[in-house]
Amino acid sequence: MKRLVAPSILSANFNRLGEAIQMINQSEADFIHFDVMDGVFVPNISFGIPVIKDVKKIAEKPLDVHLMIVNPDKFIVPFAEAGASFLTVHYETCAHLHRTIQSIKEQGVKASVCLNPHTPVALLEDIISELDMVLLMSVNPGFGGQKFIENTYKKVVQLKELIEKNNPECLIEVDGGVNYQTGKKLFEAGANVLVAGSFVFASENPEETIRNLKLL
Ligand code: DX5
Ligand code: ZN
Repeated sequence: MKRLVAPSILSANFNRLGEAIQMINQSEADFIHFDVMDGVFVPNISFGIPVIKDVKKIAEKPLDVHLMIVNPDKFIVPFAEAGASFLTVHYETCAHLHRTIQSIKEQGVKASVCLNPHTPVALLEDIISELDMVLLMSVNPGFGGQKFIENTYKKVVQLKELIEKNNPECLIEVDGGVNYQTGKKLFEAGANVLVAGSFVFASENPEETIRNLKLL
């Protein structure tokens, strides 16, 4: 089973973003995770297309772009052109999710759907066969450094079952409150990709933390 790690640059020092990207390049990280927030869907504003475009120029890992924005359809093309390898939209923001997923794939980008902590996994039953990845939020989106919501383990198990039946290639990613304890249990439950922000960037040796997370 795949065990991948995606450091979230939301917790990096933006004064030294280039150094953070070089650290990720040198590390065993599998993706670079970008948390795009619009201040409408979530109560915070982060960064957007110009930052991703510039990071793409020096990044040696695929860009995993998590859109916490309303009307994501309007921005699929610019994010694809900026260099996203994965585009994740929130289930809660898409009235026509099937169409949104097709638009992402038309750009040659891998398509992923994110569920907030309160959104049931069962709602993905009729779209799961179309997806490259599902992102489960294990905190309420908007901020790094929050406490992990324990109910997520159950959702990983439910999602794994749905994926095994319908689309075994689909990845399970989990985002929020990941550390060695929660990360180990998430991998055991069936998660494939751990997003980690503050745990990586607040650690003394981020590269080593990434390596350790992969070995959990
Ligand atoms: C939260 C973001 C996360 C965040 C995770 O809205 O989607 O990716 O950066 O941060 P930590 O790992 O600090 O919980
Ligand atoms: Zn995220």
